[in-house]
Amino acid sequence: MTGEMNLQALLASLHPVLREGEYVYVLWPHGKPLEPGIEAAVREAEGLTVVLPRERADALGLAYDFVAAWITLEVHSELEAVGLTAAVGKALTEAKISCNVLAGFHHDHLLVPVADAPRAVEVLHELSADSRHQPRPELVLRNETAADRDKILALTAEAFAISPVTGQPVEGEPIEVEVLRQLFECEDYLPEFSVVAVLEDEIVGHVISTRAWVDGYGLLGLGPIGVIPRLQRQGIGSALMNETIARANAAGEGGIALLGSPEYYPRFGFVPAASFGVLPPEEAWGEHFQLLPLALWPGGVHGTFRYAAPLGG
Ligand SMILES: CC(C)(COP(=O)(O)OP(=O)(O)OC[C@H]1O[C@@H](n2cnc3c(N)ncnc32)[C@H](O)[C@@H]1OP(=O)(O)O)[C@@H](O)C(=O)NCCC(=O)NCCS
Repeated sequence: MTGEMNLQALLASLHPVLREGEYVYVLWPHGKPLEPGIEAAVREAEGLTVVLPRERADALGLAYDFVAAWITLEVHSELEAVGLTAAVGKALTEAKISCNVLAGFHHDHLLVPVADAPRAVEVLHELSADSRHQPRPELVLRNETAADRDKILALTAEAFAISPVTGQPVEGEPIEVEVLRQLFECEDYLPEFSVVAVLEDEIVGHVISTRAWVDGYGLLGLGPIGVIPRLQRQGIGSALMNETIARANAAGEGGIALLGSPEYYPRFGFVPAASFGVLPPEEAWGEHFQLLPLALWPGGVHGTFRYAAPLGG
């Protein structure tokens, strides 16, 4: 993919989040030990600049001029995404909004004058919407082939490099990669339910569902699902989910179960599995263990769910 398309993809996935409160830039008094509450710091030859909540600066009796709102750009930027902050800066400048940019490990952050914050968020949403409306190459969803597997494993490693559970970088190979390797080889593997998303000949997403059981009834256990980070939040995950659901209906499957975020999967019709009497293999999964009953879901199926062996079944 070209750099320009990467930028378009990133802008399309831009998700500005306004933090609570007001923040100020303060020149930290020379020699004063650092205090809790500092959100960012830059050391220069002339001294230390810190950014902290306004009420914290007031409590410490520190002087400031600029009172800012803090906007986090929830986009997974990578080095190759040259031009993201330039594009954001240009859009805000055109709207006559000044901004300071801070880059963290995970995201870029903008500090804008408090009074301009609502308009700034609007401008960023518009920028993102404009990018989504640019012509985009067609997303192809097809069965995985054996020749795709190395690429699928690599994309899964990338997608899970930051743990969806802890939000922290994972040391070494994410566990989902080995699980997937084993799922490809296990007896519960179902070829038509290992689906890749392809954009311009590049595999950019993958989902797998394997045979699973509740009380002797066979249903699908979905996961892992992954999309390469730079193209997340652009509908590829949803396309993979909808494709799986359509294939499951067409194949006469009765239901799909998964362990995942209660914020993401309900949009596809998933509900807590326990509400249908399908219990997770581990009680602690609670509401994260979800079920999508399909048209052919038979009433009266109750019991503890059992995944394919690589997933602990
Ligand atoms: C989860 C994943 C497959 C979704 O694919 P995607 O292409 O990014 O998702 P889509 O563009 O279709 O949907 C984006 C929406 O899903 C939401 N979403 C994505 N992942 C989410 C999560 N883990 N929890 C809650 N919401 C999530 C986004 O907030 C976004 O919502 P919005 O449209 O209201 O802003 C992808 O983000 C990914 O690979 N993540 C890392 C690996 C992972 O967590 N896999 C699932 C583990 S169960």
